[in-house]
Amino acid sequence: MTALPAPTPGPAVALLGLGVYRPARVVPNAEIVDLIGSSDEWIRTRSGIETRRFAGADETVVSMSVAASRTALEQAGIAAEQLDCVVVATVSHLLQTPSAAAMIAEQLGATPAAAFDLSAACAGFCYGVSLASDMVRAGSAQHVLVIGVEKLSDITDPTDRSTSFIFADGAGAVVVGPTDEHGISPVVWGSDGARYDLIRQEAPWPVKVDPDPESEKGSHTLRMEGNPVFRWASFEMAKVAKQTLERAGLTVDDLDVFIPHQANMRITDAMARALKLPPHVAIARDIAQQGNTSAASVPLAMERLIADGEARRGDLALLIAFGAGLVYAAQVVRLP
Ligand code: UT7
Repeated sequence: MTALPAPTPGPAVALLGLGVYRPARVVPNAEIVDLIGSSDEWIRTRSGIETRRFAGADETVVSMSVAASRTALEQAGIAAEQLDCVVVATVSHLLQTPSAAAMIAEQLGATPAAAFDLSAACAGFCYGVSLASDMVRAGSAQHVLVIGVEKLSDITDPTDRSTSFIFADGAGAVVVGPTDEHGISPVVWGSDGARYDLIRQEAPWPVKVDPDPESEKGSHTLRMEGNPVFRWASFEMAKVAKQTLERAGLTVDDLDVFIPHQANMRITDAMARALKLPPHVAIARDIAQQGNTSAASVPLAMERLIADGEARRGDLALLIAFGAGLVYAAQVVRLP
């Protein structure tokens, strides 16, 4: 029998470039509170959110991704034609098929790169980075574009108290590719489907062949039981972060930056305390201005730290993200 060639040991892989897109419209808490009987003070105290951004009609999942990706490609010094794969982590591309990734690849000029969407909610970007790193190491791609993008304002009910003040819109992209010094640690990831119902689209998309038009009714907006998710994230995710450092052979003293999913400022604080992060470690707090942008939150927070001068290219950053499923993923990366 003819043997297939075994994969050769792969090249060193790193994040080569980063780009983001923040929608133009800034929405303060004051614009949200009346519909949910809340207050600016409650939202700031319970979540840390002061403002968020909502995309306008001309700022789509595709257009925000293309804008973020162009910056990431430019920073990486990679032409779109050099991309072998485009991975888009999102839950708010409102077509089940085709993928947002295929259209984004086309608009970037990356055709015929492989292209697909990935559904891992707020953990999607970290899932994508892990997949991309493994693709490059295994030889199935040389350069992979990983995008985290959401237009959650399309699927958030403005009258829902547990989600309307949290979720927001934006995009972030990285180019993953070969380099001299390896810059992406093994991932620690998982899921806990016993908690499937804690964050979910309320009703499935309508079934076309259903003869009863009444049964097609139902909300496609997100619902979240915030407090159980809050407790799960605050306690369980710190353990995942510790395992990630152990797998990478690092301690918190080796880190320069901590970039958790921007879910709630109190979750970030709880994880930082549990990890006993030393004072020199910069902590991403983009949620205050950006809200919770699900799959886009980690790259957006990464860019904010670099733009504000709190982190630099080459810094060692612990990423961790978690969300609907429930699912989670964490890795240590060198910042692009
Ligand atoms: O990104 C994916 C993962 N998602 C997350 O990680 C989100 C995790 N969850 C959270 O961030 C928090 O649970 C929330 C910010 C959503 C809510 O904060 P909480 O501290 O868990 O509040 P709670 O749901 O336990 O509610 C506390 C109180 C209740 O009143 P009583 O029973 O104490 O009188 C609620 O009725 O606050 C009330 N409440 C509100 N009040 C004003 C709940 N929502 C609101 C609101 N405005 N929007």
